[in-house]
Order: sequence, then C-alpha cells, then structure tokens
Amino acid sequence: MKKKILVTGGTGYIGSHTAIELINEEFDVAIIDNLYNSEKEVIDGIEKISGKRPSLEIIDICDMEKLDGFFSRNKEIAAIIHFAAYKAVSESVSKPLEYYRNNLVSLINLLGLMKKYRIANLVFSSSCTVYGQPENLPVTEDAPLQPATSPYGNTKAVGEEIIRDTVFSDSSIRAIALRYFNPIGAHASALIGELPRGVPENLVPYITQTAYGLRDELKVFGNDYDTPDGYCIRDYLHVVDLAKAHVVAVKRLIEEKNKSGYEVFNLGTGNGVSVLEAIKSFERVSGVKLKYKVTGRRPGDIEKIWADPSFANRELGWKTISTLDEAMKTAWDWENYIRSKSQIK
Ligand code: NAD
Ligand code: UFG
Repeated sequence: MKKKILVTGGTGYIGSHTAIELINEEFDVAIIDNLYNSEKEVIDGIEKISGKRPSLEIIDICDMEKLDGFFSRNKEIAAIIHFAAYKAVSESVSKPLEYYRNNLVSLINLLGLMKKYRIANLVFSSSCTVYGQPENLPVTEDAPLQPATSPYGNTKAVGEEIIRDTVFSDSSIRAIALRYFNPIGAHASALIGELPRGVPENLVPYITQTAYGLRDELKVFGNDYDTPDGYCIRDYLHVVDLAKAHVVAVKRLIEEKNKSGYEVFNLGTGNGVSVLEAIKSFERVSGVKLKYKVTGRRPGDIEKIWADPSFANRELGWKTISTLDEAMKTAWDWENYIRSKSQIK
C-alpha cells in the first residue's frame, strides 16, 4: 500500500511543488492548509501535472481541536512535512505575536498530536536565516547560530529547538530540519509557482513583476557591500530541486536510515550569486531589459551567504540540478502564465 504523507501548507509555494514530487515517487499526499497565503485551485495544478489529486482539508493548524479531528480520521500517516507558516520577514517585525503564535503554536500542536497518534516522522522547513551573517563561507550546518534579526527568523530558530527537545525527550519521534537557502522558480509546466500577495518582498518575484510591467522598477538594496561587485550575495536554488530533497528526507526517516533522531541539512547549490548577477541571468533568459535602480541598503539584510551543501549531497544523496538561468526562466514563464490567466477571467 502507498504510504501517506501529510503536507501542511501544501497549497503554498514549496509545499505544492513537493506534493508533486511525492506523488511522482508513489506516495499518497494529504494536504492541510488554511489558505491564508494560497489558493485552493493550486490542487488543480498539482493534479494536472501529476495525474493525481491530493486531498485538501482547510484547517488552521493552530486549531488543536480541528487538527486532532484530522488525525483521528487519518491514523495511517507515515510522515509529516511541515511547511505551514507565515513567512514575510518585514511583516513579522510589525506583527510579532501573530508570527510567534502561528509558526510556533502550529508546530507545538503537530508535535503533540504526533505523540498522541504515534506518528514517528517529521520534516521541518527551516531557513538559512538561522545563521545570520556567517563568519565562514560557505556555511556548514555546525556553524554557530546567531540571534535572529526578525521575529520570523526567530520562529525558525526556536522551532528547531522545540523539535530537537521533543525528539530528545521521546525516542519514538524522528525529525529532519531542512535549512533552505533561497528557493526561486516554478514548475516547468508553469501550472504552479509562487503567488506573492501584494508587493513582493523577495527578489525574483519583484524582478518578474517589474519585467511584466506591474511594478515601475526594481529597487536594488545597496551596491556598496564587501563583495566582489558590491551587491549582496545569496544561494538561489530551483524550487523543484528543493522539493525533491523533501522526498529524500521523508524516505530516510521512513526507512529509518537517519543517523540520529534529529538531523539538520543545508539545502542550497553551493554557489553565491550577487543581486546584479541574478538580474543579468533574468535578462539573459527573458530577453527583457529590467528597469532597476540602486537604492539604500535594506535594514537587517545579510551581506553574503551561500551554502556548503556537501552534507546533504553525501548523506541524502541529493544535490541541485538546475542552473540559475533555468530557474529564472521558469519564474518568468510562471509570471506570464498567471498574468495571462487573470486576464482571461
Ligand atoms: P507559502 O506562504 O507559499 O506557503 C505556506 C502555506 O502555509 C500557505 O499556503 C499558507 O496558507 C499555509 N499556512 C500558514 N499558516 C497556516 C496555518 N496556521 N494553518 C494552515 N495553513 C497555514 O510559503 P513557502 O514559501 O511555500 O514556505 C514554506 C515554508 O518554508 C515556510 O515554513 C517558510 O517559512 C519556509 N521557508 C521559505 C523560504 C522561502 O524563501 N520561500 C525560505 C526558507 C524557509
Ligand atoms: N533585494 C533587492 N530588491 C528587492 C528584493 C530583494 O535588492 O526588491 C535583494 C536583497 O537585498 C537581497 C537579495 O535581493 O540581497 C535577496 O532578497 P530576498 O528578500 O529575496 O531574500 P533574503 O535572502 O533576504 O530572504 C529570503 C526569505 C527569508 C529567508 C531567507 C533564507 O525572505 O525568509 O531568504 O531562506 F529566511
């Protein structure tokens, strides 16, 4: 029988791409999402791409009673991938309690119900934000974590600690925290992708919306950093590559190949790319000259960070495949697809 994986936040950006990869690998997918930051039509996209429609229950994971009801009806869950969270860094600064409540209460609820219903395996969405500005680059998993620069970032650091403490207290629970670097792009079909609400906070959706004519120009936050071209450096990875890592992590847990109850992996390409290089990549693949202007630094921005993914390469047998150009091209195709779709409506 196929193993069933619960994907929380499964109609969201990374969750929807992961649902497809799970289905491709013969898992049954059950999604819980409260549609706070996604649309239920994403399920149609997943079905079109994968040929299989995952179940969707619209539940707020902070609602313990409803969540308990879900688990009492679905006792055969082999693993949970927990994506559901609020993720806008700047919003978290003005709404810290909402972020702590949503991101931490949801996690505590899930862990409590994992114990109650004897669900052994958890994969958690963490972030390279826990490293702050690393002293040594590329950054490895054992680099010291630094105080978070936003409540959002802190929910990831505290979330990791909550999971670690739970695993140490209960050997029947195993968990993997995946520290994502910067996911970009969309499925090659352009049927699913990132759907930022309002003005995008992240670079790539801002680039594609500007190129499409929805924004006047991209504001580039600083070119006076201590980097080769003066622009900030990040490690951008294709969301489909990222999604595949979740399948590998789930299998590792289910097959009990994990080396300890709680493991942490960096998920990135290992390549540092500057904002200017990212713009040039976009221009190359789209043929569009991007309007942008260098403005002041964004408060709290990390100057440069990129992953050492060798632990994930070695232990998970996972590595990124897509190039920056390929990922940018899919981001651009997706932007064109959703805009043309909204004009048809
Ligand atoms: P997303 O907003 O597209 O998806 C998250 C989904 O969770 C949304 O569909 C939202 O409706 C749902 N959700 C939020 N709170 C919920 C709740 N209480 N109950 C039920 N559903 C809820 O975000 P994403 O980019 O797919 O990110 C997924 C995870 O990865 C998040 O935990 C995020 O913090 C983490 N992460 C993302 C990035 C990134 O750059 N996108 C980087 C590092 C880590
Ligand atoms: N940038 C601009 N202009 C913009 C947006 C971004 O110049 O309009 C620059 C930023 O200054 C930064 C780079 O583009 O140098 C990338 O910025 P993003 O906001 O896309 O990504 P961050 O690395 O700052 O943060 C993102 C998520 C965090 C997450 C982190 C690591 O927003 O939640 O990646 O995964 F923690």
